Amino acid sequence: MLVAPSVLSADFGNLQRDIESICNAGCDLVHVDVMDGHFVPNLTIGPVVVSAIAACATKPLDIHLMVENNTFFVDLFASLKPEYISFHIEEEKHPHRLIQKIRSLGIKPAIVLNPHTPPESVEYLLADLDMVLLMSVNPGFGGQSFIESVIPKAAKLSEMRNRINPNCLIEVDGGVTDKNIHMLRDAGVDIVVAGSYVFNHANKKEAIESLQI
Ligand code: DX5
Ligand code: ZN
Repeated sequence: MLVAPSVLSADFGNLQRDIESICNAGCDLVHVDVMDGHFVPNLTIGPVVVSAIAACATKPLDIHLMVENNTFFVDLFASLKPEYISFHIEEEKHPHRLIQKIRSLGIKPAIVLNPHTPPESVEYLLADLDMVLLMSVNPGFGGQSFIESVIPKAAKLSEMRNRINPNCLIEVDGGVTDKNIHMLRDAGVDIVVAGSYVFNHANKKEAIESLQI
């Protein structure tokens, strides 16, 4: 299991210190939540802060867009060369086109599904995707509780990707802890995002390792 701590739970007054601490603690990716105050009822960070994060991160960036105008934000972040850019299917009229655009920029494309969105919504896109991110909370805030229905949903998606594109990874985001990590692994999940669990833990290395099962 790969672990991507969410910067949303970092201390923004000490952002460089916190980014370096998760990278030194052995995380696999750095998860960056970009919210525009329209798609979700919260506003986070834009290109100035994300490039500051990219400058001190020694692990690849996993940018999660929670915005209305996906193409505009993809263009804003492309020059930072993140490993992944993920966008919500609920907010995109032409997901297939945007996947091709992200790939043409040398970035791995990923699609995010809100808790109510069925895994079948990505069936005809799976062949072109590097990752599907399943939300296990409603997007917008860190520190919420885990929505259990993501487990059978991940299992269903895992069966679909094994059939259509075994290279497509499954990521889960929201409320992940050492209490649900085994269920997530058993359902076929490859990457977890963990914000409050990692940043509230006294020992970040121990927290990250408890999820790298
Ligand atoms: C929620 C974000 C998550 C969030 C996870 O909209 O996408 O990445 O920061 O935080 P925890 O792990 O605290 O639920
Ligand atoms: Zn996220």
